[in-house]
Amino acid sequence: MKNLTHINTKLLGLIGHPIKQSYSPFIHNAAFEMKKMDYLYLPFDVTKSNLKGAIRGMSILGVKGFNVTIPHKENILDMLDNISEEASIVGAVNTVVNDHGELNGYNTDVHGVTGTLMQYKKDITGSVVSVVGAGGAARAVIYSLIRNFKPEKIFLVNRTEQKAESLKKYFSEKIKFDSFNTKELFPPDLVETFRSSKLIINATSVGMFPDSDDSITELGESFTKDQIVFDLVYNPTRTKLLKLAEKQGAETVDGLNMLIYQAAKSFELWTGEEMPVEQVRNSIKYYIEN
Ligand code: ATR
Repeated sequence: MKNLTHINTKLLGLIGHPIKQSYSPFIHNAAFEMKKMDYLYLPFDVTKSNLKGAIRGMSILGVKGFNVTIPHKENILDMLDNISEEASIVGAVNTVVNDHGELNGYNTDVHGVTGTLMQYKKDITGSVVSVVGAGGAARAVIYSLIRNFKPEKIFLVNRTEQKAESLKKYFSEKIKFDSFNTKELFPPDLVETFRSSKLIINATSVGMFPDSDDSITELGESFTKDQIVFDLVYNPTRTKLLKLAEKQGAETVDGLNMLIYQAAKSFELWTGEEMPVEQVRNSIKYYIEN
């Protein structure tokens, strides 16, 4: 049990609404305990109307930094002193560092994607990738792919094709990548699209607890043994999609990796230290699955 009364304890936090579902307090506090660092990470339930006040409070109270989650990731951009390039292009901040009263915003979801996929870099560069989803998570995925992996082409697949079209236009203008094809998320028509992709990424919430019987496709023939299938959903860790892909012999990557790599980058930005990623992965996996 942590001794909370220490005068030098540094405070970090999370603001969002609701926040009960977040694993970030567990991840960061576990890492602080593993590394014997005198930090405490607390969740703060902050509604939209209280966002400005909460941020000012964080600054005045000398909180070292905080994570930002739904519904504030986009709205907070205008309330900070500086925004990193990736947060500005992705259009969302999930990490704030309080540098002596100056609040700097970052998007470490991008690092989460990059860290997770780095081991497959050779496979991805010059290949075709399918990204399913057109929300904030998909934007972080696409930014990371274009900046760090240079795929030949990206299929943007979404339930609402219009949103995929907007995303295509946005990224073409912002980072001059225009090798996109958009597709409606209609699984019977996607078999060929998925089969022609080296990497398939689910950046939607489809398959997440409690709807773990859902999947972006039920069609086994969508996958081959030469593919990598990455699901950003981390609860459950083995989603229906990953089980299906695994059955076809594809390499599968679960969302826990991304969750931990994004947390590791925030940890580093706040403390200058490395998070013990493997140890934290084991303990969060146990925490989620039990
Ligand atoms: P996030 O910031 O987590 O990406 P978001 O911005 O709300 O969340 O985006 C959610 C994405 O999941 C969207 O692409 C959404 O599709 P639409 O653009 O058509 O809304 C997708 N999504 C959510 N629930 C879905 C479902 N049941 N079937 C298919 N796609 C779904």
